[in-house]
Amino acid sequence: MSVLHPLLATAQDGADAVPIRIVGPDAEVGLDAAAARWATLHGFAGKSGQLLVVPGSDGAAAQVLLGAGSAFDPITARGLSARLPGGLYRLELSGAEAELATLAFLLGTYVFDRYKARPETAPVRLVAPNGVDVAELSRIAAACALAREMVDTPAADMGPLQIETIAREIAESAGAAITVTEGDALLEDNYPAVHAVGRAAAPHRAPRLIEIGWKLDRTELPLVALVGKGVVFDTGGLDLKPAAGMRNMKKDMGGSAHALALGRLVMQADLPVRLVVIVAAVENAVAADAFRPGDILNSRKGLTIEVGNTDAEGRLILADALTRAGEHAPDLTLDFATLTGAARIALGPDLPPLYTDDEALAEGLMTAAGQVRDPLWRMPLWPGYRGALEAEIADLRNDPAGWAQAGSVTAALFLQRFAPTTGAWAHMDIFAWNPRARSGFPEGGEAQALRACYAMLKTRYSG
Ligand code: BES
Ligand code: MN
Ligand code: ZN
Repeated sequence: MSVLHPLLATAQDGADAVPIRIVGPDAEVGLDAAAARWATLHGFAGKSGQLLVVPGSDGAAAQVLLGAGSAFDPITARGLSARLPGGLYRLELSGAEAELATLAFLLGTYVFDRYKARPETAPVRLVAPNGVDVAELSRIAAACALAREMVDTPAADMGPLQIETIAREIAESAGAAITVTEGDALLEDNYPAVHAVGRAAAPHRAPRLIEIGWKLDRTELPLVALVGKGVVFDTGGLDLKPAAGMRNMKKDMGGSAHALALGRLVMQADLPVRLVVIVAAVENAVAADAFRPGDILNSRKGLTIEVGNTDAEGRLILADALTRAGEHAPDLTLDFATLTGAARIALGPDLPPLYTDDEALAEGLMTAAGQVRDPLWRMPLWPGYRGALEAEIADLRNDPAGWAQAGSVTAALFLQRFAPTTGAWAHMDIFAWNPRARSGFPEGGEAQALRACYAMLKTRYSG
């Protein structure tokens, strides 16, 4: 991987870069008379996200005004690359704001062009502000782009094998070990729930449990486990989803994309941890040997699970994946999953629910989420709803009883039964998708909680 993002320039090349000035509601302050008139003429009032190119006397861009509103949000810099004319720019910012705005700029350059050529336009490039760690920002942006690209890629081209291939590339370039347990080997190696959910897929899309291990012999280092839901397409299974609900289910591997991208980032940054990344990659398909409503599955942990609904498949594969994570006695386990529609009903598409019973971890994640503007909202692992997972003829049911209603909470409670009991555990019920296009946020795959988790890891394991 190239260290420097191609759209970042270093300060030496920045001599005639066009300055981007952050301007609040008192827009005229500090502008010369001509620029102030130009701003008024174009209705630029310093509102958050407003953008205005101000020409010099030669008609070329002399400066850019970026509206700050009452408090500047560096994330608005995501809109810059699509809205500015091609050229070289520099942000008039310093410190943490400069760092975050530069990253936001890079995140805003993502385009999914795998299936459609975009017209060639002159690139918008940015001079990295002084003191900003460009290598670090470049790899964070690359991690987010990887997760988004995996989510955006249709299921036909992002099956279990493609996820395995990406995992192998990540492991190989980091010098990490990788094992893949596929098809009937899942039964031999005791991943019965992963097998049950994925067995109806076409043979070349067989289910698999992918595990990357990095620095595992360095037992003096704390072990971090990252776990991801990799349902490459969720038809709902025999409890088939209606058309509208199925339409976007190529994104149901978003959790695995996040776990792999974050894992790559941790290894590239060489954080002082041992790392295990575990991804269950399956297709929740319909076929004669699909698992059925009423079937009782075994799990790696030995708990039996009555399948009330084949569309609650994510928690089944995560049960085995989390049990596996626990076998490494991790200091910390983070899981990512597009687990419930109920999460979106509770908090909408932009704010992923965070579940953990570890106060220090909750505090660390929420602080990091605020600092890097990658929001999370803590939700309760409410013990009073555990009863909704009780089954008459098995240890658990995968479709919580209706009375509990809080579907994202009960899904998290289900995972909690399988989560490692050593160390801390957090679960993020991500949406992994922008449902509406906004400046710098194209409709499609989105990295959520990835930057927050990374920032938390850096703090938790510093020194
Ligand atoms: N992958 C879905 C959840 C989902 C749906 C995420 C839409 C994002 C957008 C998951 O496998 C699912 O179908 N969950 C069911 C569970 C229910 C059957 C208990 C749900 O949320 O409806
Ligand atoms: Mn489902
Ligand atoms: Zn699903």
